[in-house]
Amino acid sequence: MKASRNLLLCLCSMLALGFLYYSSGRISLRGWGYKSLYDKQGFLLKLDGSLPLELVYKYGNLSEGACKPGFAAAKMTAIYPKFTKVAPMFLDPNYKRFSKISDYLPPFGVKSQGMIIYHHNGACVLCYSMSCKTCIIVGNGGILANKSLGQKIDEFDVVVRLNEAPVKGFEKDVGSKTTMRITYPEGAIQKPEHYETHSLFVLSAFKAQDFKWLRHMVFNQRLRSTDGFWKSVARNVPRGPSDMRILNPYFIQTASFKLIGLPHNNGQMGRGNIPTLGAVAITMALYNCDEVAVAGFGYNMSTPRAPLHYYEKIRMSAMKESWTHNISKEKEFLVKLVKAGVIQDWTNGICGAGC
Ligand SMILES: *[C@@H]1O[C@H](CO)[C@@H](O)[C@H](O)[C@H]1NC(C)=O
Ligand SMILES: *[C@@H]1O[C@H](CO)[C@@H](O)[C@H](O)[C@H]1NC(C)=O
Ligand SMILES: *[C@@H]1O[C@H](CO)[C@@H](O)[C@H](O)[C@H]1NC(C)=O
Ligand SMILES: *[C@@H]1O[C@H](CO)[C@@H](O)[C@H](O)[C@H]1NC(C)=O
Repeated sequence: MKASRNLLLCLCSMLALGFLYYSSGRISLRGWGYKSLYDKQGFLLKLDGSLPLELVYKYGNLSEGACKPGFAAAKMTAIYPKFTKVAPMFLDPNYKRFSKISDYLPPFGVKSQGMIIYHHNGACVLCYSMSCKTCIIVGNGGILANKSLGQKIDEFDVVVRLNEAPVKGFEKDVGSKTTMRITYPEGAIQKPEHYETHSLFVLSAFKAQDFKWLRHMVFNQRLRSTDGFWKSVARNVPRGPSDMRILNPYFIQTASFKLIGLPHNNGQMGRGNIPTLGAVAITMALYNCDEVAVAGFGYNMSTPRAPLHYYEKIRMSAMKESWTHNISKEKEFLVKLVKAGVIQDWTNGICGAGC
């Protein structure tokens, strides 16, 4: 009863919003002689992404390479006027106030997850007092190999790594600093000795089992069954509760429905509507960092013999068609960000020669 009323409310407000949007003239009225300035997601078609004048002035006196406060958000707003910076990085005790995540099941929200574990202390990524943060998302792509970017990566305030991507033995190319490692159970490092000692363990939950799994890891309980996982999962995460977080599902929701424009599918996980972890991490960074860079992103299918990941021998050609992701739609989104200078791509794999 309540659910259907919510749905109705939601539909009504969507209709109303749709109308407003329509009447604002942004939607192209084919045959009416209008040409829209915006694409379907609401990004400017012409991506100049110039900075507002007051920011040009504000950054004018900064020394070369200094962190520019608010840069990523300002650039993002310039190409995507709907961008509003409101979402905290992790689930915190106020999560119930965010109806957007309480109304959706995982991966887009936390509905029906009962007691959610969260901790609100610890590492300095949460020091909101830090006036300006530069962040780099290190993807796992083979394109990182032999580029000696390690030192540059380590200079960022926040270094985000994904899933099991190793650091040890690859420092020259990928750096040695890890501020946080965002992962889901099937992607998590399985050997406890392979975890770095100082980093936040951040769960990006894609399904209800993932929350359950985290509870087992936090309380050091034996995982009796691995039903519901699509491959083997880590059984022991050598991190204390104060070093664990749950990524705000808002970023999965926003990446999928708004920024990339994947099918809403009634808010349920379905064919081709799950963003990759990399896109989720970038979205998080746009909302939480002043400057955002990426490295190791982009799969180039015209080089089938190139390595898929920087840490193993599997080749690009081994990449499987994905049922859950829509790599080409996602690439369009990433290209927009790079083209407009919202993010910097240190390995140039997102656009290649094309931006
Ligand atoms: C930049 O430096 C000039 C000269 O020192 C000063 O007059 C101006 O107010 C500064 N601008 C900002 C935004 O700090
Ligand atoms: C990186 O360099 C090593 C040693 O020179 C070489 O064996 C490897 O194939 C190179 N990897 C890539 C992706 O170029
Ligand atoms: C990806 O999105 C495009 C455009 O919406 C669609 O044509 C295609 O079928 C989608 N692919 C997958 C795997 O869902
Ligand atoms: C993919 O590789 C080809 C051949 O090396 C290159 O010409 C092209 O620019 C690359 N594309 C991207 C997106 O990196």
